[in-house]
Amino acid sequence: MDNQGVSCVILAAGEGKRMFSRSSKVLCEVAYKPMVLWVTDAAKGAGIDEICLVIGNRDVEEALGGYKTVYQNERLGTGHAVLCAIDFLKDNEDADTLILYGDAPFMDSSTIRDSLALHRQTDASATIISAVIDDPTGYGRIVRKAGKITAIVEQADTDDATGTVREINSGAGWFSTKTLIETLAKIDNNNAKGEYYLTDAVSIMINAGKTVSVYQSATPDVTLGANSPLDLLNLNDMASQRAILKHMQNGVHFVNRSGVIIGPDVEILPGAEILPGSIIYGKTKIGRGSIIGPNSIVRNSVVGENSVLNTCQVFESNIGDSVTAGPFTQIRPNCNIGNSVKIGDFVEVKNSSIAEGTSVAHLTYIGDSEVGRYCNFGCGTVTVNFDGENKHKTIIKDFAFIGCNTNIIPPVTIGEAAYTAAGATITKDVPDGALALDRGELTFKEGWARKKLASYIEKKKK
Ligand code: UD1
Ligand code: CA
Repeated sequence: MDNQGVSCVILAAGEGKRMFSRSSKVLCEVAYKPMVLWVTDAAKGAGIDEICLVIGNRDVEEALGGYKTVYQNERLGTGHAVLCAIDFLKDNEDADTLILYGDAPFMDSSTIRDSLALHRQTDASATIISAVIDDPTGYGRIVRKAGKITAIVEQADTDDATGTVREINSGAGWFSTKTLIETLAKIDNNNAKGEYYLTDAVSIMINAGKTVSVYQSATPDVTLGANSPLDLLNLNDMASQRAILKHMQNGVHFVNRSGVIIGPDVEILPGAEILPGSIIYGKTKIGRGSIIGPNSIVRNSVVGENSVLNTCQVFESNIGDSVTAGPFTQIRPNCNIGNSVKIGDFVEVKNSSIAEGTSVAHLTYIGDSEVGRYCNFGCGTVTVNFDGENKHKTIIKDFAFIGCNTNIIPPVTIGEAAYTAAGATITKDVPDGALALDRGELTFKEGWARKKLASYIEKKKK
């Protein structure tokens, strides 16, 4: 695409009221990604760098991280929203401006590019992106006469004739920025909803004899917006189906669709297998031959080749090759799990690295630790990393063998090829090769227990 002279305004000031959402509407998520970020990515993917969002709440600004924003303090309609970005429009006066709606996540880069091409070929003042859908209820209708667009009529303003029109306005479209600025000044709120409609700008342009083109999208998906929780659920269902299809065509295996949710920024290499109930999202990469699930969550993480994550939750971490984890394992942010590590049931790892070949098979907590290669953790080991005020670091060197039920109280280092005895509480550095043993001698009181249990045993024998 010719990226010269293109800019984009994304309308994202809608409230969450109809969605029953506490956050702004555009932050409602599709495949665990806020809708507005789908839209910014589509614009960026089409090569548009100049992007400005019209927002109503701080939460959107925080979620966006770094885009230009302007506030629309009162929601007076889409036309008013665009007017709030007037300074941005003036800065890009010689450009063509794309208007996108932050609640239509399936707008895509190729539709943006192709519609710009039509906009420029036809030398249009505006190019509306439309689609033909089965049930147009709720959308603005594209009204044509002899094939040419004459108006966009909003749902609330439709009559018997316009109500049946199935070609709808996606809300997205290209505008010659200069003409848009001139026209915005002319729109009023003289309509059923009492709002300043952006769509009126189009009618005004047509009446003024300017060229308005319509780019009819090949798929109606790009127009789908979310105005209700049901719409959002439908978008999520569609996103799941699309993701499974895309990854399957790419050589990823699925045995069932049930509960599989894969975010749009996930990369899965051929030969991996995704089992039911698995949710993979954020910037995540899954390597060849790895098996995720059943019932796993992987967020913003990299998983190597031939690893198995069975009923695990993994967040913001790196998992190497041939790792087996689960069931019921949690890997919290900032972990580096080396190749061939085994992490078993009811193990939690946080902010720690575990090097190649180490085994942590059961009921263990490893936090703020650096664990070497080929160590073995007995059942029930705990790094006691928090003293109530500060977190402290545990270092465990290669080949260390941690006995069952060891409490490690950092800051402490357990030396290479050292042993800790079962039940030890480690409060000092353990030298390389040593056995750490903090046990008193085991003594017996002969007959004590039998005496104590006598009446109990009698009762049970009856
Ligand atoms: C709009 C279009 C309609 C189109 C439909 C597609 C208008 C007048 N109507 O209707 O033709 O078929 O989208 O989904 O444009 N917003 C603001 N500030 C406002 C009002 C809206 O930022 O004052 C934002 C919303 O966050 C949303 C977008 O603009 O992202 C669209 O607003 P919405 O109220 O959902 O418009 P629709 O009634 O769906
Ligand atoms: Ca809408």
